[in-house]
Amino acid sequence: MAFSPEFLDELRARVGLADVIGRRVRLVRKGREHSGLCPFHKEKTPSFTVNEEKGFYHCFGCGTHGSAIDFVMAVDGLGFREAVERLAEQAGIEIPADTPAARERDEKRKTLYQVMEAAAAYFERCLRMPESRGAMEYLRGRGLDDATIKHFRLGFAPDSRSGLKGALLREGFPEGLLAAGGLIIQPDDAARASYDRFRGRIMFPITDRGGRVIAFGGRILSSTPKENEPKYLNSPETPLFHKGRVLYGLAQAMRRVRDAGSVIVAEGYMDVIALSRAGFEHAVAPLGTALTEEHLVELWRLAREPVLCFDGDAAGQRAAARAAERALPLLKPGFGLRFAEIPAGEDPDTLIAKRGGRAIEDVLAQAFPVSEALWRIESGGKLPATPEARAALQQRLQDHTRRIADATVRTHFLKHFNDRIWPPNADRGRGRRAPASVSGATPAKAGSTRVDPLREAQQILIAIMVNNPRFFDRGGEELGSAEFPDSTLDQVRRTIVSLLSEDPQLAPERLRELLTARGYGDVLDALFATPVVKGHRLIRCDSPPEEVQETWVQHLNAVRLTGAAEETRQAARELESDLSEENWERQRALIEARLTDGADWRPEPTEPGS
Ligand code: UTP
Ligand code: MN
Repeated sequence: MAFSPEFLDELRARVGLADVIGRRVRLVRKGREHSGLCPFHKEKTPSFTVNEEKGFYHCFGCGTHGSAIDFVMAVDGLGFREAVERLAEQAGIEIPADTPAARERDEKRKTLYQVMEAAAAYFERCLRMPESRGAMEYLRGRGLDDATIKHFRLGFAPDSRSGLKGALLREGFPEGLLAAGGLIIQPDDAARASYDRFRGRIMFPITDRGGRVIAFGGRILSSTPKENEPKYLNSPETPLFHKGRVLYGLAQAMRRVRDAGSVIVAEGYMDVIALSRAGFEHAVAPLGTALTEEHLVELWRLAREPVLCFDGDAAGQRAAARAAERALPLLKPGFGLRFAEIPAGEDPDTLIAKRGGRAIEDVLAQAFPVSEALWRIESGGKLPATPEARAALQQRLQDHTRRIADATVRTHFLKHFNDRIWPPNADRGRGRRAPASVSGATPAKAGSTRVDPLREAQQILIAIMVNNPRFFDRGGEELGSAEFPDSTLDQVRRTIVSLLSEDPQLAPERLRELLTARGYGDVLDALFATPVVKGHRLIRCDSPPEEVQETWVQHLNAVRLTGAAEETRQAARELESDLSEENWERQRALIEARLTDGADWRPEPTEPGS
């Protein structure tokens, strides 16, 4: 049985190529593409690129090339059918049964798309008619120029019972199709004629990610709706339109979302449009509903930390609070939400109108993570004075935290709240660092002078990764290409890379268990008993990440500079400068990632001389 081309298109659109490949290869975003070490041939510098927009990967080293389906076939050794099934499962798409009924349904969807497109074109034409002057003036009055109107395909539904219906029937669409698309309303009394759903409204086409029109929102022209008349009217649910899944503006936002790796979520149509006009093209909105789990999942396919930018009123705050709570069970390391606070009484649209894009930038820069949102909801932003009240606060926060399914994230939230409610008194300025008496690397003890600095550097790199598997996110690529001359250490290194590539969320204990199960228990015991590792306070599980990072880079350089025999010093120097640039990028990424993470990953204030 064959898959329909429509289904395969949908599959390719819905599974993010970078997601699929990113499960197996550490990818680094470079502009519009991602790159990493090619999984199909052995290499030390990345020549494997992933172009999500075009939907393919390409290796400039070995010439391998293909789609998400090809990748899964090649890497997992699956046949076409199994690869498709696996991807569909991961993306949560049902595989259409190839029955006559299913084919009929596909056919129907196809024609539904056509009628929706015809309706959008009709509304666009109507907006340009002289008799729609009022509508055009309304849009102009809200600051929209022609380019924006075209970009979002805004239109106008004339105040008539059969304007659209008549036009589409004349184009040859059957009346049943108009009804199935939610464009007309059939009165209960079937003897009475059906009539246009949208009358006298500015029309906002709602599209899928690929820009196909699937529904509409229509806004009345006046600022004060009459009684019983909603300000915005949306299409009903249809075979194409599931409100709880669709994000308004996604098609227009897509390019920028990919480039920036971020997405802004506003509440309303006009917010999305105003944001886009102000240079924030990566804005989308749900359709007058709360953010559903499906929305969240979709948003996390687009960005690790979608930023919610809801209206600055009680309703907006409630919506944000609900989104935070709904996100809890779904949080994963590195995947969170941020909350941008629009000043009271404004929404992104009015804020931009009053104070311009700069105001949005400020608001976005101060966006806070889920943990902070919960804190503000439960504490009102103040730490209670009495122990009982603090305990009650802790209890409420724990109730939220318990809903986090991911153990790592949950632990970090608990620790974060705990530290915040009961701040450690001693040692305040230094945060959670180890006592000063335990210094950095202790020199090796009597007799055993440091015989092999290269070997020690390698041991330290391994110890860092074993103790801080989360650091794989940053250092995995480098560890993957490091190559240690000592063959046992090198085997351990390769095993760690493969285990963590499979599951970057392994806890330290679990990683050690797996390594032990593979026969490296003794090697690890010996390694952790080595004085240089044992005495190194900066590579323990609880070390501050900046210091882990610093230690990592220092020893990585040592390994690379003294170890790689075939590398000339010149190449090594290039590497070094490369690294520092990369470092800078990483530091930045690290800081961003930390904003949603638990307390451990929060940047600590740098102190002079520390
Ligand atoms: P808002 O009333 O905040 O919309 O509702 P807005 O975009 O700021 O409106 P204007 O045009 O600037 O006055 C937010 C969203 O809630 C949905 C719409 O999707 C709207 O964009 N909504 C609102 C409805 O579905 N129906 C309504 O009657 C009102
Ligand atoms: Mn609004």
